[in-house]
Amino acid sequence: MQLQDTVRSEGSSSNTETINQRGSLAGTSKGNELATAQTFEIGQPENLRTRYRLIREFSEKLSETLEPEDCVVQTMPEASPVKWHLAHTSWFFETFVLKEALPRHNPIHAQYAYLFNSYYNAAGKMHCRPKRGLISRPTLRETMEYRRQVDGIMDAVFEKPAILEKFAPVILLGLHHEQQHQELILTDIKHVFSENPLRPAFCERSTPKSAPVALASWQSFPAGVYEIGYKGAGFHFDNEGPHHRQFVEPFQLMPRLVTNGDYVEFIEDGGYRRPEFWLSLGWYTVNEQRWEAPLYWEKRDGNWWAFTLAGMRKLDKDEPVCHVSYFEADAFARWAKARLPYEFEWEVAVADLPYAGNFAENRSFHPQPLDQTATRQPLAQMFGDVWEWTSSSYSPYPGYAPAVGALGEYNGKFMCNQYVLRGGSCTTSQSHIRKTYRNFFPPNARWQFTGIRLARSLA
Ligand SMILES: [Fe+2]
Repeated sequence: MQLQDTVRSEGSSSNTETINQRGSLAGTSKGNELATAQTFEIGQPENLRTRYRLIREFSEKLSETLEPEDCVVQTMPEASPVKWHLAHTSWFFETFVLKEALPRHNPIHAQYAYLFNSYYNAAGKMHCRPKRGLISRPTLRETMEYRRQVDGIMDAVFEKPAILEKFAPVILLGLHHEQQHQELILTDIKHVFSENPLRPAFCERSTPKSAPVALASWQSFPAGVYEIGYKGAGFHFDNEGPHHRQFVEPFQLMPRLVTNGDYVEFIEDGGYRRPEFWLSLGWYTVNEQRWEAPLYWEKRDGNWWAFTLAGMRKLDKDEPVCHVSYFEADAFARWAKARLPYEFEWEVAVADLPYAGNFAENRSFHPQPLDQTATRQPLAQMFGDVWEWTSSSYSPYPGYAPAVGALGEYNGKFMCNQYVLRGGSCTTSQSHIRKTYRNFFPPNARWQFTGIRLARSLA
């Protein structure tokens, strides 16, 4: 594998203090009419209200090309039906804003708290996750009506300055929560469609701009004490802090993501049949699950194909490899005589980089090859395209303590048996990501847009 080869980079940048939420889906004429970007600062009441409207609308844009039947199916316990995501995100605002801020608020529906609570034990009992696909009622139409009702009462909250001032942080949390579920709508419907022999397409295929550009070498970073974690007054999840110092040994990062072409070399070298590359639990999983390639790959007449949100496509070897587990990422790294980065190394490396990349706003919903028209960067694709597995276990930073109450359950209680991923993916909104953002999934998870960047130690 040519780990030191051509680097192509790609365009657009913004920062997390602005939102650039395009309310449209690729390939829909209705979507194109609505594709006007709206950019504004957060932190002012009217901006929060506008942000609320745009993010809530975007959730519905993501589902407008789906049929009601598509929105009910659950294909595995980890993935939820689209309808459930649309209801649960509304339940979040009803539970943590309306119920708390409006003492006379009566639940919109007596049973919705049970159906649409995900995992907040302090908020009451909940329906079991693996059976969400069995819930045909409320219907999709009733679920959308629930959204309208929540939005209507939220409108009244936005008219009350005293309540708004108190609850603005929770509303902002609810909006970032909804953006997380927008990503899950895309990853979960991809899994649903992949299980259908008709292999339906969620969106039209985008045409990536791909051509080789300048050679880049692995980027080196010196040893030192670095500042890690979120520092500032903007929105961030509690798991991004406290801000702290971390001693980092000298290291190198690969200047681009690992591609499908790289990964095919690993497969053809017996990667899935040679235990020497695998962690013990990974090797057990490969054999138990009979993995021979990333999720959604199929071999047809000797050629690799992959299922995408635009349907089945012949594998593009220039695209970043995607839908690999931590186990596969780690085995690939060992085969390549490298390793996965620690999460703090990734954070050190992006300190001076713009938030440029292939995000949900691009509406390709698929990782793209490097783009020669973009500015050449020493490190390409650090943001967007695919979440990058790190070798860091998801654990609390020094001094971390979750908030008291139900919202303290948001992140902290999952700090066990999971690994940190960084940088966002092609289904993450650009306005949602941060350099300190810590995503996390179990090491066998493959249905998210997860990929690989390699690291090497210099010490
Ligand atoms: Fe949630």
